[in-house]
Amino acid sequence: MKALVLSGGSGTRLRPFSHSMPKQLIPIANKPVLAYVLENIRDLGVTEIGIVTGDRGDQIAAAIGDGSRFGVRITYLRQDAPRGLAHAVTTARDFLGDDDFVMYLGDNMLPSGIADAAARFRARRPAAQILVHKVPDPRAFGVAQLDEDGRVLALVEKPQEPCSDLALIGVYFFTSVIHDAIAAIVPSPRGELEITDAVQELVGRGTPVQAIEYDGYWKDTGDVEEVLECHRKVLEGLRPDTGDADVVDSELIGAVVLESGARVVRSRIEGPVVIGAGTLVEDSSIGPCTSVGSGCVLRDTGLRDSIVLDGSSVTGVRGIGGSLIGRAASVTAADKGPRHRIVIGDHAGVEVAV
Ligand code: DAU
Repeated sequence: MKALVLSGGSGTRLRPFSHSMPKQLIPIANKPVLAYVLENIRDLGVTEIGIVTGDRGDQIAAAIGDGSRFGVRITYLRQDAPRGLAHAVTTARDFLGDDDFVMYLGDNMLPSGIADAAARFRARRPAAQILVHKVPDPRAFGVAQLDEDGRVLALVEKPQEPCSDLALIGVYFFTSVIHDAIAAIVPSPRGELEITDAVQELVGRGTPVQAIEYDGYWKDTGDVEEVLECHRKVLEGLRPDTGDADVVDSELIGAVVLESGARVVRSRIEGPVVIGAGTLVEDSSIGPCTSVGSGCVLRDTGLRDSIVLDGSSVTGVRGIGGSLIGRAASVTAADKGPRHRIVIGDHAGVEVAV
């Protein structure tokens, strides 16, 4: 079995971050979402992985490399434009050959892995196997209707009136039969070749398509709220590790990870918290549920339930929460002039207490 990871797309719901970095590289507990995806695939014993990328393929390749770090071999496959998930499969046609494959959307997080689903696919080998999860409002997802044995009766992409509460998770298992089905579909009203339509095409032909209800935690990290929620969940499993970090006159409570060269001075850190390599925390109160990237400076700061990316600084501001702060960003207290002075890029969002 091979694997195909989809990491192209435009990521409009994750603006402004997706202006400068692919959403699949957003860090959760200081590790990119895509790294979790690759580890889950590696844990299936699958080592041949194709990653479909768009314009930001160079950043993905720089972050992930040739895969040797994960014990896998990666082939990068360039998709000319985000023309849909099924179009991404056609981009990978030569790489996939006639092998079975698992297709994994590079922004989907399933921290407890997909080993059971893979074992069931390998044992039964239906033409396609999808994973579904009950959600309160499935309108933002593909939606599946199943019979009592888990066979798929119908699939619709982002329906206004869903036929069930079962959303499609972004992990699919296919035999090579899927390529014929993709060849038979046309772009959807939003102009994309939908994998949902290709699977529905198989169902319509009477080809066996099986669904598995996934009962672990799953999150599509498509927007900031979803990223923060997933971050909280992943941090639940954090184990304390302060390594060689320098801790001076400070209190560390619960699961705190201090990466190499981090320095904590006169501060209180309440886990779960990850502080990145070479970051300085001084006279601050950090956590819970916070990850700070490498090379940051947090001084006289109060920060909780947030993610701070590499190279940023926060000085003299307390009460920050539910925040995602981009790379090399700076947040400071105003000491003169207007009470709030805001310099932010396109599509950014700021909430200020007044
Ligand atoms: O997360 C689960 C949902 O993912 C499913 O329920 C839906 O049925 C499925 O269509 C998909 O919906 P999204 O709207 O969330 O897909 P998105 O556009 O975010 O793309 C998913 C991943 O695939 C993301 O990592 C970007 C990548 N992608 C997307 C497109 C459209 C590509 O690599 N190429 C593309 O052309």
